Amino acid sequence: MALGIASCDSTPKLNENNIDDVVAAMTLEEKAHLIVGTGMAGINSGDSAVVGETRSIVPGAAGTTYPIERLGIPAVVLADGPAGLRISPTRDGDSATYYCTHFPIGTMLASTWNPALVEQVGEAIGDEVLEYGVDVLLAPALNIHRNPLCGRNFEYYSEDPLVSGKIAAAYVRGVQSKGVGTSIKHFAVNNQETNRMANDAQVSRRALREIYLKGFETAVKESEPWTVMSSYNYLNGTYTSENPELLTGLLRDEWGFKGMVMTDWFGGSDVVAQMKAGNDMLQPGYNAQYEAIVEGVRNGTLDESVVDSNVKRILAMIVRTPRFKGYEYSNSPDLASHAALTRSAASEGMVLLKNERKALPLQSGIRNVALYGCTSYDFIPGGTGSGNVNRAYTVSLLDGLKNAGISADTLLRDAYDAHVKSWREKQQADTGRFAAFMPVHLPDECNFSAADLAAQAKASDAAIITIGRGSGEFLDRESSNFNISDVNKAMIADVSRAFHAAGKPVIVVMNIGGAVETASWSKNADAILCAWQGGQEGGNSVADVLTGKTNPSGKLTMTFPVNFGDHASTANFPVDIKAEKDMTIGNKGPKYDRKLVDYTPYEEDIYVGYRFFDSFDRDVAYPFGYGMSYTTFAYDDAKVERDGDKLTVSVTVTNTGDRPGKEIVQLYASDTQAGERNKPEKELRGFAKTAELAPGRSETVSISFDINDLASFDDTRSVWRRDAGRYDLLVGASSRDIRASLPVEIDGAEIPVPDILAPKAEINTLRR
Ligand code: BGC
Repeated sequence: MALGIASCDSTPKLNENNIDDVVAAMTLEEKAHLIVGTGMAGINSGDSAVVGETRSIVPGAAGTTYPIERLGIPAVVLADGPAGLRISPTRDGDSATYYCTHFPIGTMLASTWNPALVEQVGEAIGDEVLEYGVDVLLAPALNIHRNPLCGRNFEYYSEDPLVSGKIAAAYVRGVQSKGVGTSIKHFAVNNQETNRMANDAQVSRRALREIYLKGFETAVKESEPWTVMSSYNYLNGTYTSENPELLTGLLRDEWGFKGMVMTDWFGGSDVVAQMKAGNDMLQPGYNAQYEAIVEGVRNGTLDESVVDSNVKRILAMIVRTPRFKGYEYSNSPDLASHAALTRSAASEGMVLLKNERKALPLQSGIRNVALYGCTSYDFIPGGTGSGNVNRAYTVSLLDGLKNAGISADTLLRDAYDAHVKSWREKQQADTGRFAAFMPVHLPDECNFSAADLAAQAKASDAAIITIGRGSGEFLDRESSNFNISDVNKAMIADVSRAFHAAGKPVIVVMNIGGAVETASWSKNADAILCAWQGGQEGGNSVADVLTGKTNPSGKLTMTFPVNFGDHASTANFPVDIKAEKDMTIGNKGPKYDRKLVDYTPYEEDIYVGYRFFDSFDRDVAYPFGYGMSYTTFAYDDAKVERDGDKLTVSVTVTNTGDRPGKEIVQLYASDTQAGERNKPEKELRGFAKTAELAPGRSETVSISFDINDLASFDDTRSVWRRDAGRYDLLVGASSRDIRASLPVEIDGAEIPVPDILAPKAEINTLRR
C-alpha cells in the first residue's frame, strides 16, 4: 500500500499545542539560531545597513527572529518604541511611505495621570504595529527618574514607582489589545546612560523592592506583557541578563511572569549565564553568541534542557504573533485619526506651572505675538535614539499658533532663522557611526536691543518665549542642559521688561524632555507652561492650551528641583563626566576603578525625588504632583472606609471656577512614626482623575489600596514589614498641597519573600 507523502513526513509544524514536539524535533543548531536573532550589519553578521535596525521584512525594525521553515517557524519582527513605532519611513525602490505617528514622550503621557487615555494611545500605537507588519513593540520604558540628568528620562514615566507601573500597565493593555506584543524595559535599574553597558548599579534590596522593581511588578501583574527586556547594566555585580535571581526567582517565581525575556541590544556578555538565568532571547544576535550556545551544550556547561526552556518560551511568544497567524497587514494604519489622538493626548499632558494676571488662556484680542526662542520655530517632538519616531512632519509652535489664527512677528522670525543658520554653519558635523542616534545640539539663544524689544512689544499683543531642551539615548544630560544659560536668562528678563512696560503678557513655553531650572527666572514670566515634547502635533497641542481650547490638566510626575544638585542622588550621578561610550559589544566586564562610571552606589537609597525632598524638608521649584488649571477645584467630604485589607478613600471634587476642567487627586500615606522608622514622610498610594467637570459640577472619586501597600522592605530579614500604628492618608492636589488628612490605625504584619539580589559591596545608605 502506498503511503501519502504527508503521513511519511513526521516533522511537526509549529502550532499553539505542539511546542514540545517542535522543540523535540529541533536540532541544537536550530535552537541556538532561534535564540540569537538574525543580527545586524557590521557586527559579526547580519543584514542591516544601519545600527539600530534590520532590513529584512520590515525595514528599520530593531530586530527579527530566525525563521525555521521546515518546522513552520516564521521570523517575527521586533521594533521600537515608547513614543510610537520606529521603522524606516521609506524603502528602496518603493514610492510608498511608511511614516508612523510620533506620540508624546513617555514622561508626557504619564503627566496626564490618565491611564484610560494612555491605554487609548497604546491602542493606536498597537494598530500601527499591527498594520505595518511588526509583531512586538519594544516599549514601554519605565525606569525610575532617579536623577533629572539621566539622558533617557524622557522615555520613562516618573520618579515614583506607582505612577510608572500604572501608566506602563495601561500602555501595555492598549498595545496588546491589538494582538501584538510589548516588551517592558529596561529590567532593571538602568538609570544612567554613562557607560550603561558596563556600569554596576549598587543598590540596597530595600531600594530595589520599594523603588526600582515596584513599577515592573505592577506592570507584570496588571497587564501581562508578552515580553520583558533585560537592561544593559550590572546590578549588584551581575549583569541583569545573567541574573537568575532577577529573571527567574523574582520575575517568574515571585511575580508569576509567563512570557519571554530578551536582552537589550547586545546586552550582557556570558551567553551560558544568560540562558541559565532565563534570558531566553539575545537580540539582535551575533555569531559568537550562537557558537557559545552550541559549544556550551557540547561541552556540558549548558544543559540542553535549559536551552529547551528558553526556546519554548520564544515559541510560545511566536505563536501569539500576527505573523504566525498569517495576518495580512495593510501598511496603511489610520494616521489621520492617530494624529488627532496625539494632539489631544499631548494637550492633556501639559503642566501649567504658573499663571498670573490671567495671562492664560490668551485673551481673545490677542492675534499677533512676538515669538522668542529658537525652538519656537523648530519645535522638538521627542527625544533621540531608539525612542525617536520617523514621523511625517512636526508642527512647530509658530505653525500651531497660525493654525489657531494667531500670527507671529515676521521680523523676529527672520532674525531667528539667520541666528540658527549661522550657528549651524559653525558646527562640525558629527560623522560618528552613531550620529543619527545622538541627541541634537541646539544653538544658544540670542539677545535683542532694548529698542528692538520696545518695537516688538509695541507691535505685538503678547510675548511667547520657548525654552527647548533635547536629550536622548547614549548620553546623560549635561548640567548645561538642565541650567538656563546667562544669555537665555537675560533674554527672558529683557523681553519681560519691554513687554511689561507696554502692559503686555509674557508667557514661557517649555519644550523639554525632563526637569530644567526655573527658580532663577520664573519671576519674569506671567505664565509658564511645561509643554514637554508632544510628538508630531506638538505646536497644535500647545496652541490648544494657550488659547484655552483645552484646559490644562496635567501634573508633574517628578519634582522640579531648584538646582539639580538638590536631589540626594546627584551625589552619586555622573554629572558632566565624559566617559567613553560603551555602545558596542566587547569592552565589558566589571571594572571598579571609576566611581559613577564603572559603578554607581545608590546611597540615596529609597530617598528618590519627593521621598527625599519631603522627608528632609528641602525647597523645590515645583513639587511632585503639581499642576494648575484655568479653573479651580474644591475638595470636600473626604472619607476612608476599610473592608478587610482594602482601604478606600473617597473625596468629592467640585469645579469652583468658570471653565470646564479635569482634576487629578492624589492619595499619599504617611506613617506618623516615619521619622523614627526611616521611612519617607509620605508616599503615593493611589490617584484618580475626574472626568471633565463643567463649572459648578462635582464628582466623587474613590481610590483604593491594599493595607500591605503600606509595608516597607526590611533588608535585614527579607520581609515586607507593615508597621503597626497610625497612618495619615493625605488627599492632595499635589505632594505639597494636601487638602484632607484621614487617620487610620493599622495593625502590624510581616510578609517574607526570598532573600535575593543582595549587594556585594557595602552601600552607605542615607537615613532620616
Ligand atoms: C535600547 C533599547 C531599544 C533597542 C533596540 C537599545 O539601544 O536601549 O531601548 O529597544 O536599542 O533599538
